[in-house]
Amino acid sequence: MKSMIRDISLAPQGHDKINWVKNFMPVLGTINEEFSKSKPFAGKKMVITMHLEAKTAYLGLVFKNAGAEVVVTGSNPLSTQDDVAAALVEDGVTVFAWYDCTNEEYDVFLNKALDTKPDMIVDDGGDLVSLLHSKRAELAANIIGGSEETTTGVIRLKALEAEGKLKFPMIAANDAYCKYLFDNRYGTGQSTWDGIMRTTNLVIAGKNVVIAGYGWCGKGAAMRAKGLGASVIITEIDPVKAIEAVFDGFRVMPMQEAAKVGDIFLTLTGCNDIIRKEHFAVMKNGAMMANAGHFDVEINKVELNEVSISTRSVRKNIEEFVQSDNRKLYLLAEGRLVNLAAGDGHPAEIMDLSFAVQFFSALHILNNHKNMGAHVCLMPNEINQKIAAIKLASLGLSIDELSVAQSSYLSQS
Ligand code: NAI
Repeated sequence: MKSMIRDISLAPQGHDKINWVKNFMPVLGTINEEFSKSKPFAGKKMVITMHLEAKTAYLGLVFKNAGAEVVVTGSNPLSTQDDVAAALVEDGVTVFAWYDCTNEEYDVFLNKALDTKPDMIVDDGGDLVSLLHSKRAELAANIIGGSEETTTGVIRLKALEAEGKLKFPMIAANDAYCKYLFDNRYGTGQSTWDGIMRTTNLVIAGKNVVIAGYGWCGKGAAMRAKGLGASVIITEIDPVKAIEAVFDGFRVMPMQEAAKVGDIFLTLTGCNDIIRKEHFAVMKNGAMMANAGHFDVEINKVELNEVSISTRSVRKNIEEFVQSDNRKLYLLAEGRLVNLAAGDGHPAEIMDLSFAVQFFSALHILNNHKNMGAHVCLMPNEINQKIAAIKLASLGLSIDELSVAQSSYLSQS
């Protein structure tokens, strides 16, 4: 099937980006070497719906080298990089994605990908799975299973499963140790600040940074904001997470209080309406807002538009909202995930782990789907150990091994 991309002539720059990240993804490199010989996915069609940048492209190529027929679409209108999409097409992967697509185009891309009648899927956020359980439900019978990349997608999958509607096994790749401990925490921790800093070209030190949500992503973003010299405030709804933030050394308060003092607001909750009109009303002149949660629902853009007397784009990925008392509030990257919409996403070394989880999850589905049932499952834990061991070796690090005597001590009752 013919790809739909912006411009094939951008491919050389895309190849450069993919070749660069390959250097820093040794686990995926090891997988590529091993499975391009055995080609376990031969004869299988796989649709990958993910943020289409260089690391994702490399994952697509690894699946292709392992025998799969691969189709890639983006998982967010602003996170596709057109040069990377072009390079993937040159490398023989079918792509339906371009940067800044409309919502209608986004739907067309997902549907085109499904028209190829995939056997397996890799989803990020749950839009593809949702389509396979609604308008394209006729294709679900063909799917042997798949995996889901992010927290929000896993929540949606579990809701489908609880309603008894899930039609094929899905591995919650997000919930593997080698994913959330590193990707959500350290990946988001670094890449959100990269996105915010390259977009604003401003200093973080000395600013009051308000982080909504102290889950895995929030913890990473707070830790890195502190390292950059910010004074960090956490907002939460879970008392345990809130007390954890206190003992990690952060101030905790409701958003209504934080709204008055914040210079930069970052939402990472997976929930909607975190920053709303009552918060815009008390924010300081010049306050900046960004989101790194999966959907652009955490900062209420409808209300922000309603309470503003004028808006304009003041710099790429920065929109100014003037309030009736002349205060100016700024929204970065349309409230979409700032690290991907206004940056390159997580560092390659981190995605090396996440995408190894994706590969082994798909392999597990391939070999075990008949016995898995239509459930949301975890990747077997021994694969976490295997991935981490390859990563350690690639870093030139080794660790101790239990002696026989230690093993027997630990197994005593
Ligand atoms: P998590 O479940 O570990 O943490 C979410 C936290 O937000 C929880 O502590 C929860 O109590 C809190 N929360 C929920 N509703 C809230 C509200 N109304 N006000 C304040 N706090 C609230 O989830 P995780 O893994 O940190 O993911 C968060 C979001 O980030 C999800 O949408 C996920 O899909 C997305 N994500 C984005 C990435 C990126 O690259 N930008 C990478 C990984 C995940």
